[in-house]
Order: sequence, then structure tokens, then C-alpha cells
Amino acid sequence: MRPAARVPSEELLARWAPLAPVEPGAAVRVHHSADVFALWQAWEEEAGSRQGVPYWAVPWPAAIAFSRLLAADPARVRGRVVLEIGCGGAAAAIAASRAGAARVIANDTDPAALHVARLNAAANGVALEFDDRDQAATGLDESAAVILVADLFYERGPAARMIEQLRRAAGRGVEVLVADAGRPFAPHTGVTLLATEEVAVNDDLEGTSQRIVRLLRLLGPS
Ligand SMILES: C[S@@+](CC[C@H](N)C(=O)[O-])C[C@H]1O[C@@H](n2cnc3c(N)ncnc32)[C@H](O)[C@@H]1O
Repeated sequence: MRPAARVPSEELLARWAPLAPVEPGAAVRVHHSADVFALWQAWEEEAGSRQGVPYWAVPWPAAIAFSRLLAADPARVRGRVVLEIGCGGAAAAIAASRAGAARVIANDTDPAALHVARLNAAANGVALEFDDRDQAATGLDESAAVILVADLFYERGPAARMIEQLRRAAGRGVEVLVADAGRPFAPHTGVTLLATEEVAVNDDLEGTSQRIVRLLRLLGPS
């Protein structure tokens, strides 16, 4: 069970996860930490209770790949309604908004992630909408023309349920874009490979200094 969530204070974020570009030279800036384990410990001390993994404290390599893709090719989302599922700190959602999306809905089931995503959106001067549902369980928001999913497929059951919902959306004509940094339950069939990106990553978190991210379009049910 997820522990009772407390959101991190702005003082804690300023000290342990300051605002910085998602990678050197990038326009999108989010709160992120060079030492997630130290941040996690400081957050639990501040909250006075156990807290869930602070996924929101890292722009994961897949989100960085999306921020590159959308900066280079804004027409993918310009004027369209975009839903990012599992947004964490919402780097990809912010990139979509900067690229000219008509509306961007940033979804995450973790209240701390949505809190930091709100701060990140404000810091980038973009307006996002926020949604806290597990859309694999409730059904996907049907207003979206484009769905972005970055680094979400790391648990077998939840990944399978989400992919099933996403394929149904793709079958209805939604453009489902997945960025995958090699997570174990990401799809390898029923996809079109759009591009690959090499992204520098934190060795302490990833066990390597670089990840290859596949940018995919998910196809509908076969
Ligand atoms: C590894 S992080 C990736 C965050 C962000 N997409 C990125 O690439 O920087 C995965 C995020 O997905 C969220 N998540 C996991 N399952 C989810 C679900 N069923 N619906 C919405 N969010 C979910 C987690 O809370 C976490 O913030």
C-alpha cells in the first residue's frame, strides 16, 4: 500500500531538487535531483513518515526523448488535445504545451508527482490540466487526440492493463506515442518505430550512463 503522501515543500525542492533543464541546453526545466536517495530521505524526514518512491524527482530518459522530439517536430501535437499518462514531473506534457498543443492533460496517480508537475508547469509558463485517476482502471480520457507515455512499463500486470487500454485508444484513431528506455514490459510488437535517441542518465539510478530510448507509435488491436 502506498504510504500517506505528503507533498514536498518548496524549500526541500530548492535544496534537493532545484529547477534545471531536463538536459543541458534544453528549454524545458523541471525540479530534479542529482541524488534521489538523499532527496527521498530528506523528504521523509520533512514529512515525518514513509513516502513512496519520488519518481517525480527525475526527468526519466523517455521524457527527455519526448522533449527532444516535440521541440524538433511540434506539428505532432500543435493544436491537438494531448494526454500524458504517468507524467511524473510532467516534462513531456510541458514540452507538448510549449509545442503548441491546444490542451494538455497531465495524469499521474501520485499526488506528490502532480504537486511537483504543477510547480514545473508554472515555472515553464505553461498551463496544464491535471488528472489523478488510474486510467487503466477507469478508462482513458476520450478527449485526447494524442497520448504520450514515457517510462511507464516497469511492472508486468499494470503494464499489460495499460497497453490494452492504449491499443483500444489507438484503434479509435488516437495517436499513442510511447517512449521507452528499455523497461522490461514495454511493447516490442504492434508498434511502429519512429526514432531512437541516446540519452545520458544517472548511473546510480540506471546502472549505466546512457540509455537508448525507442520512440514508438502504438498500433491498435490486431
Ligand atoms: C518512472 S516514472 C516516469 C515519469 C515521467 N513519465 C518521466 O518519464 O519522467 C512513472 C510515473 O508513472 C506513474 N504511474 C504509474 N502507474 C500509473 C497509472 N496507472 N496511472 C497514472 N500514473 C501512473 C507513477 O506515479 C510515476 O510518477
